[in-house]
Amino acid sequence: MGHAEHKLHDQPQARTISLDEYWMPFTPNREFKAAPMLVVRAEGMYYWNDRGEKLIDAASGMFCCAAGHGRKEIADAVYKQLQELDFIAPFLRGHPKAFELGARVAELTPGDLNRIFFTNSGSEAVDTAMKVALAYHQARGQGGRTMFVSRERAYHGVNFGGVSLSGMVNNRRKFGPTLPGIAHMRHTHIKENYYTRDEGVHGVELAEDLVRFVNLYGAENIAACFIEPIAGSTGCLVPPKGYLKRIRETCDAHGILLVFDEVITGLGRTGHNFAAQAFGVTPDLITMAKALTNGAQPMGAVAISERIHDTIMGAAADGAIEFFHGYTYSAHPAACAAGLAALDIYRDEGLFERGRELAPYFQDAMFSLKGAPNVADIRGYGMFAAIEVASDGVPGRRGHTFQKKLFDNGLHLKSTGDSAIVAPPLIAEKRHIDEIHDKLKKTLAML
Ligand SMILES: Cc1ncc(COP(=O)(O)O)c(C=O)c1O
Repeated sequence: MGHAEHKLHDQPQARTISLDEYWMPFTPNREFKAAPMLVVRAEGMYYWNDRGEKLIDAASGMFCCAAGHGRKEIADAVYKQLQELDFIAPFLRGHPKAFELGARVAELTPGDLNRIFFTNSGSEAVDTAMKVALAYHQARGQGGRTMFVSRERAYHGVNFGGVSLSGMVNNRRKFGPTLPGIAHMRHTHIKENYYTRDEGVHGVELAEDLVRFVNLYGAENIAACFIEPIAGSTGCLVPPKGYLKRIRETCDAHGILLVFDEVITGLGRTGHNFAAQAFGVTPDLITMAKALTNGAQPMGAVAISERIHDTIMGAAADGAIEFFHGYTYSAHPAACAAGLAALDIYRDEGLFERGRELAPYFQDAMFSLKGAPNVADIRGYGMFAAIEVASDGVPGRRGHTFQKKLFDNGLHLKSTGDSAIVAPPLIAEKRHIDEIHDKLKKTLAML
């Protein structure tokens, strides 16, 4: 590969940087380095690229920045924390903000999901949840439950547990057989529900796949069922009406734990604290990350039912470590400070309610793109939507072009395959939604 470098034009940042060394994640590196899309500044609803051009953020960064960018309260909290206590070992030692943030997260979770284990990412939260499920069944004398059920088109992060659960082929195909004992239910993106806003009326019977796995593998071998209440990274697949409730019933009937992976849907995206509350279905565990710190520090968490927690605690000998798991940076002081400041903003500004109120306007804007050139499907719920463009024969190629042209036209979002995923910060005003709509429409006509 030849050498690539880039001259940053933005005045305060003006310099030439080498692009060779940094290997970018989930990016066509060679293409990027030939035509870099560099962002150097952010504030509120906007980014600025290195040429000083303004882009509207239609993706909350990557589903993280619910309160918009450059929140001084969070920056100040992190700065203060790093001066006061920069780091303390999270094993055998603690610091107050870890406990405070745990309590604040527990206030937001449904049911008795009041025990909070901190991680540094969504991927780590997923692998942690898998281990909690296994440890729980062992603790109650059902150690044979080692299988997991997930779904086609699921995204559960990139660590080996999460990749094994995932149902997106490109995330699996180069990495061998992954973990054994994982069965994938069918996804719920069926033709009958194309262009359906909120939950589709067709496809609830797809939840019976879990019953089939119970019959095929034996419930006594299944530890947990992992579900994104709205499949996010694959392009906002909203569940059919009654689907999640039916999955819950099957789990209950067979002693299988239900895990909602709410790394995207958690903390306001649906207009509720969690999608669990939006859909009225309480799982046994919830994984979260992204908006937990408004994207200002890497952090994830697993909310665990007290029943599960207490069972694991109760099975350990007095004085013993109950759960042999954790990360050097679990509950990092700076991340906890950022999390507390972010949750304060969400509460004080009523951002989840604000998202719920803006959602109909946002969804109207997205669904008004039906019939625009090259649109093949639109899906959405709350402040979350996907515009799928018609394939040009090579899956994902047109979606990728769409995303690049949107950037050139001043809009940032994430695309997966042929779907552009729209998830604006919850501070958005109607004029921002209009701007997002207009840029999407203009760019669709250019494909
Ligand atoms: C549902 C879900 N789970 C897990 C992850 C992984 O999170 P991270 O990228 O923070 O590891 C993601 C990331 O988008 C996600 O959407």
